[in-house]
Amino acid sequence: MIKPRPQLKGITMYSPGKPIEEVKLQMGLTKIYKMASNENPFGCSPMAEEAIRQEIEEITRYPETTSPALTVKLAARLGISSDQIIFGNGSDEIIRLLTRCYINEGDHAVMAGVTFPRYKTNVLIDGGEVIEVEMTEGKHDLNAMLAAITSKTKMIFVCNPNNPTGTIVGRRELLSFIEQVPEDVLLIMDEAYYEYAESEEYLDTLPLLPDHPNMVILRTFSKVYGLAALRIGYGMMNPEIVQQLQKVKDPFNVNRLAAVAASASLDDDSFLIDTIVKNREGRQYLIQYFDEMNLRYFITQTNFIMVDTGCPSKEVYQKLLNKGVIIRPGHLMGYPTMIRVTIGQEEENEVLVRELRKILDSTPLTWKGVEK
Ligand SMILES: Cc1ncc(COP(=O)(O)O)c(C=O)c1O
Repeated sequence: MIKPRPQLKGITMYSPGKPIEEVKLQMGLTKIYKMASNENPFGCSPMAEEAIRQEIEEITRYPETTSPALTVKLAARLGISSDQIIFGNGSDEIIRLLTRCYINEGDHAVMAGVTFPRYKTNVLIDGGEVIEVEMTEGKHDLNAMLAAITSKTKMIFVCNPNNPTGTIVGRRELLSFIEQVPEDVLLIMDEAYYEYAESEEYLDTLPLLPDHPNMVILRTFSKVYGLAALRIGYGMMNPEIVQQLQKVKDPFNVNRLAAVAASASLDDDSFLIDTIVKNREGRQYLIQYFDEMNLRYFITQTNFIMVDTGCPSKEVYQKLLNKGVIIRPGHLMGYPTMIRVTIGQEEENEVLVRELRKILDSTPLTWKGVEK
């Protein structure tokens, strides 16, 4: 057999939240509540749907390679210049482009101990070494991350808000961190849940871009905009970095439907606000229940919550799945008694609470004190 690159040894395929179709088939259920992948349970903008319908007539034609109209529109909206923006096939792709462009064999990438797994996977595939820094209370320990920087460090990832914990890093702390990251280290701020973060402690990093040519900010249309299936995200950075990423990206990475849907979404602030308000209500509802049940959870600034049920997450996951509720078990992420739940529509939140209550009420004693 032909041998793959040695870097692939030990890399496993990404394990996503279970798809609705699969659970329907597997469980023989008709109603499924997917609360696993931090998608928007309220759909997407009707203006995006209409744009997709119109663009269908053009699908026999390749898309443009850099989505120029969308780039100009987004740049104007954000008050930056078009050459600072790159679109990707999801922000996933931009993470991959960054490691592909900048990680050499043996380079170090610093990241939080429990964070979005694609950073690690891509760094490893490109031959780099991953330095994971232990978190404190589900939050990035920025001082420890700074201390982990050496002459070998090429990039440092900060996921803010963090997936899977939902936490943010404090404004002053982050500002001071950004000032201290050496200029020859690429600082990647992943802000996939940026629009949900309402705390005054949340730092808007965009105004810092001009003074930090080593900083990259990633955002996406997959979350609050509800376009996860279309695969479109974007990065904002120094134009020189954009030029490097353009060299290695696939020519037609962003498809026509994604580009027009994203563009139309930018015109629909009321959809965005509506989602944020409903998410806030759902979060309050779930938190109230978790408080009632004395369950510990991380303070979230996102559309998901990581909560400690005190029981093995694998079993809680399976029991919820049997009822058609898909969540993410924490054992996959280093939290064996926690589950990560995407805040859903009212009915989904109610079903989750009802089923979780039943599970915890009938918790066998053997579950207590589960090994970490
Ligand atoms: C923190 C974070 N970054 C990036 C992504 C990738 O998003 P997409 O590729 O859909 O833009 C996700 C998706 O779950 C995420 O949670």
